[in-house]
Amino acid sequence: MCGIVGYIGEKKAKEFLIEGLKKLEYRGYDSSGIILFNQKVFLKKEKGKISDLEKTLIEEELDSCKLGIGHTRWATHGIPNKINSHPHVSNSGNLYIVHNGIIENYESIKEVLISKGYKFYSETDTEVLINLIEEVKKSENVKIGKAVKIALNQVVGAYAIAVFDKNNPDEIIVAKLGSPLAVGIDGNNFYVGSDPSPFIKHTKRCLYLNDYEMAILSRKKGLILRNFLTDDILKQNIETLKLEIDEVEKGGYEHFMLKEIFEQPKNIKDALRGRILNNPERIKISSVEEFIDKFEKTKRLVFISCGTSWHASLLAEYYFEELARIPVEVEYASEFRYRNPIINQEDIIIPVSQSGETADTLAAIKLAKEFNPFLYGVCNVVGSTISRETDSGIYIHAGPEIGVASTKAFTCQAVVMLMLAVDVGFRLRKVDLVKYNTIVNELLDLPNKVENLLKESNIILDIANKYKDARNFLYLGRGYNFPIALEGALKLKEISYIHAEGYPAAEMKHGPIALIDEDMPVVVIATRKGNYHKIVSNVMEIKARGGKVIAVVTKGDKEIKKIADDVIEIPEADELIIPIIANIPLQLLSYHIANLKNCEIDQPRNLAKSVTVE
Ligand code: AGP
Repeated sequence: MCGIVGYIGEKKAKEFLIEGLKKLEYRGYDSSGIILFNQKVFLKKEKGKISDLEKTLIEEELDSCKLGIGHTRWATHGIPNKINSHPHVSNSGNLYIVHNGIIENYESIKEVLISKGYKFYSETDTEVLINLIEEVKKSENVKIGKAVKIALNQVVGAYAIAVFDKNNPDEIIVAKLGSPLAVGIDGNNFYVGSDPSPFIKHTKRCLYLNDYEMAILSRKKGLILRNFLTDDILKQNIETLKLEIDEVEKGGYEHFMLKEIFEQPKNIKDALRGRILNNPERIKISSVEEFIDKFEKTKRLVFISCGTSWHASLLAEYYFEELARIPVEVEYASEFRYRNPIINQEDIIIPVSQSGETADTLAAIKLAKEFNPFLYGVCNVVGSTISRETDSGIYIHAGPEIGVASTKAFTCQAVVMLMLAVDVGFRLRKVDLVKYNTIVNELLDLPNKVENLLKESNIILDIANKYKDARNFLYLGRGYNFPIALEGALKLKEISYIHAEGYPAAEMKHGPIALIDEDMPVVVIATRKGNYHKIVSNVMEIKARGGKVIAVVTKGDKEIKKIADDVIEIPEADELIIPIIANIPLQLLSYHIANLKNCEIDQPRNLAKSVTVE
């Protein structure tokens, strides 16, 4: 939710801020704004996309500015308009702030500030924070750095902030708690981003701030890192990023989502790389090797996650119960955190998150920690908060996912879940060598299968054309394909705004069947393995009521072809691998429908990539 950038150095700030904000637009795109400084402050804000803001930056003087901060917003407090946009300015007009997160106690602070004569123009919590900093600076007669530190000790919430004081124009102050923040360092040039994608083009030297850390980025003194609770000066762990610029660019595709769908063969290879050894073909996951005793002793695994990651967790439930014979529960993090869940010390809690920053999942982890279970994270973003808050875990190595609708991350989550389940199952002697080798070989073959499937995917565009005007869709799947039905429906909703629901196919007759008529396309995952004849019956039931069936079938299928309106063929594979393959044409179906409807594919309305607020 929201992206922030900042720059102080010897180069033109404007280009970096605009380009950087475009890279972070996936985090929110309701409005944006920047300040640039050279002798005076230039404040620009605009509702809508960064490109709308860019059009307002016409003054030549802006090119001479070598300092600035910027923001792209996903609205939390107040509607998306210019007034609520960041940067926000303090009453004196001296202090400016950009903020990603939520200040939970802003109303009580606002009341106190109003009683002291402060005026508020926006509905945001951020305007309260910058005026609190101003009030502290005045009343305690301290410099801006100290004022930020004191103010942050008074607020409750989550934040990554960048603050600028025009009376102290040689520095920017950044701090974080709960929301992510990275600083890129190239000599005397300091770059700030909610993630490193804005500055990867300029430098690979990166300092990720930890919670309760603040950094002063100063032309005169360089970078000073402190803990803002204790005031201690901290050692700077500067990392060299492995990220490449082409990983965060579209590479000739019309949308990031399409690029991300088509790069899945490579992503799957990356997820497997170094973990499946060729000779002998054995899975080697260091975190499983190290903690196999925890898996041996545990009485259950509890997956906690949201959205697409929850669907991957559901698939993991099928995998782990089948292969490792460990009972599994799959929890929505947002529900888990507010229940009074029963957690035992021997439980293994498995938070699953692409971004590693999802607020509900983080809160669920915090709650779980009170009971001291073993926390095993499954994350994509290296160094993310969830990866740091867990005892151990595994990265899915999908690379940066820019499209707000998750595709390659889901696929890599599924691949990693299967690899984990079969590894644990084999080590616990629940999987025999034959099954083990079958799955290992099929995993190794998966990138080829997906690559071939993508090459033959043109038919999906024709199908999309046929059904793009439908107002509702049903997605059905059984067994391992049920989570895929849910994920397929979510993808369609997210980017095409068509109402879609996923169900276990057999549940249809317990209610959803009432919806079926000639205007209702039903996507059925009807692959040969796993309850095939039951699925054939479900398809018959739909056809008998005039519904339109789009079936995902195994190559060469004859039976369903005769009754379905449209079919998408996928290659034959083990039934544990099939759901991973079947999910790919459904991604493409959603993509093409949304594209034909001229929807904003990479930045669907009302969504944001990482949901760092409740
Ligand atoms: C996926 O398409 C969604 N944008 C969303 O459901 C997402 O999966 C969810 O917000 C969880 O995010 P996370 O994986 O980063 O924790």
